[in-house]
Amino acid sequence: MRNKITIVGVGNVGASCALWLAQRGIADLVLVDIPAAKTMPVGKGLDLLQAGPIVGYNSRIRGNADGSYEGTENSDVVIVTAGVPRKPGMSREDLVGVNQTAVSDVIDKALPLSPNATFIVVTNPLDTMTYLALKHSKLPRNRVIGQAGILDSARLAAFVALELNVAIDNVHTVVLGGHGDEMVPLLRYSTVFGVPLTEWLPADKLQALVDRTRKGGGEIVNLLGTSAYYAPGAALARMAEAVLMDSKLIVPCSTLLEGEYGLSDICFGVPVKLGASGVEQIIQLKLSDEEKAMADKSVKIIRETMSALKL
Ligand code: NAI
Ligand code: 2OP
Repeated sequence: MRNKITIVGVGNVGASCALWLAQRGIADLVLVDIPAAKTMPVGKGLDLLQAGPIVGYNSRIRGNADGSYEGTENSDVVIVTAGVPRKPGMSREDLVGVNQTAVSDVIDKALPLSPNATFIVVTNPLDTMTYLALKHSKLPRNRVIGQAGILDSARLAAFVALELNVAIDNVHTVVLGGHGDEMVPLLRYSTVFGVPLTEWLPADKLQALVDRTRKGGGEIVNLLGTSAYYAPGAALARMAEAVLMDSKLIVPCSTLLEGEYGLSDICFGVPVKLGASGVEQIIQLKLSDEEKAMADKSVKIIRETMSALKL
């Protein structure tokens, strides 16, 4: 049996994710967008398919025209990138209204055809849209997961590797919390060659890297005029692979909390174990008072954003 992943929203993030996934050769891909996109997904799908013989991957890639979900039936994973990205000066929170419509629309169309799929959401504001997808779909919490923490942790890791002039492989970083400027970097748990970051860099240098990570999305929006896509696409591909391969990968993702970390009724970035059932375990780390205060701030912002949802 071949695995199948549907990607809804074949813009910057969706198309990048499709490329990263195709290269892994772990699933066939179906690309879906809105009717107004007309044949665009067909074109991107065909282009990616034709890269297979060059790169050596064997994924079958199909793009659908005119908003059709044909061929998405029984997808193992549905990746939701549908929505509008930030423009310079906009916060992720500014996107709630328009992206609520897009995410609900995707659930309404994709879920009846793939009732057993795990849904991975990337649309911003991420934690709020993950919560919306969960409530709208009425799926159990393990099957609706938001992508943010892999990207935010990767940004910090990339900056640390550059600063210390060490290989990326030596760096392991943990960034939790909401996907916003109030994300929660856990420096005690972030290491280079197993040694905490706090022992590698003075506090002011470390703080500068944290600040750059917090504003990492905005930095790219200002450079590009739209939001990042290569790294977000790669993060999605990593999550989808972990689910498909049942790899039990522990990564930070946005998931519904029901008492963990003292929080309920909110999707928040925490370490989870990803496997065939989606979120198979929520890992509870002990937070210091300072980390708890950062998490509280992040929660407050997410709850404010959630209040703009029409459920
Ligand atoms: P984009 O504009 O390049 O692509 C979005 C695509 O979604 C478009 O092709 C659009 O036609 C499609 N779409 C909109 N409504 C749809 C619907 N109802 N059904 C199917 N397709 C629909 O935007 P981009 O850059 O790909 O970003 C997508 C979303 O991901 C944005 O909300 C952005 O803020 C978010 N994002 C989140 C990140 C994260 O780490 N969580 C990182 C980067 C982007
Ligand atoms: C990012 O972090 C904008 O959420 C998007 O790049």
